[in-house]
Amino acid sequence: PRTIYLTRHGESIHNIEGRIGGDAELSENGRKFGNALAKYIKEQNISKLRVWTSWLKRTIQTAEGIDAPQERWKALNEIDAGVCEEMTYAEIKEKFPEDFASRDQNKFSFRYPRGESYEDLVARLEPVIMELERQGNVLLIAHQAVLRCLMAYFLDEPSNELPYMEVPLHTIVKLTPVAYGCRVEYVPIDV
Ligand code: F6P
Repeated sequence: PRTIYLTRHGESIHNIEGRIGGDAELSENGRKFGNALAKYIKEQNISKLRVWTSWLKRTIQTAEGIDAPQERWKALNEIDAGVCEEMTYAEIKEKFPEDFASRDQNKFSFRYPRGESYEDLVARLEPVIMELERQGNVLLIAHQAVLRCLMAYFLDEPSNELPYMEVPLHTIVKLTPVAYGCRVEYVPIDV
């Protein structure tokens, strides 16, 4: 049976500063994760592995050392936070207090002004999911909100819980199909 390996990009400069969105580079730690990930993947000796990333630098840099065919998907880019792109949550709360509060009320449906909601993201990811269903072993390197949507699909999580699913940095989420649904395993990668 095939396995889908999901992971976020390595730690980025924005992650360190607590800023959302943007197209930042990896931090020193993030680059170490990229190296450790490449080593892990090599050791696993996965047959006909393909690597999918988003168009953002932090996922492409994370995949750099992995010896397998790679594809870039714009549809895997992180949720577009619109006017809140590259802000910290504290800045959003200060500049857009009403939006900040309403996101708390219904995080799945909340759409950032001039940006996207989790609901939008689920629709954007539909072609990715269709293609993933047809593939063999895939390592998919993406972003927190995107991975929540993909995990919710494979693990049958309800949409109200989807935006709160745990997707830690520097951790591989292994999804293996079983009779009904998927088995999930979290593999932390030390850097
Ligand atoms: O902070 C990293 C990040 O990937 C942001 O780019 C994104 O807006 C956020 O996580 C999504 O998480 P949440 O919906 O919980 O804010």
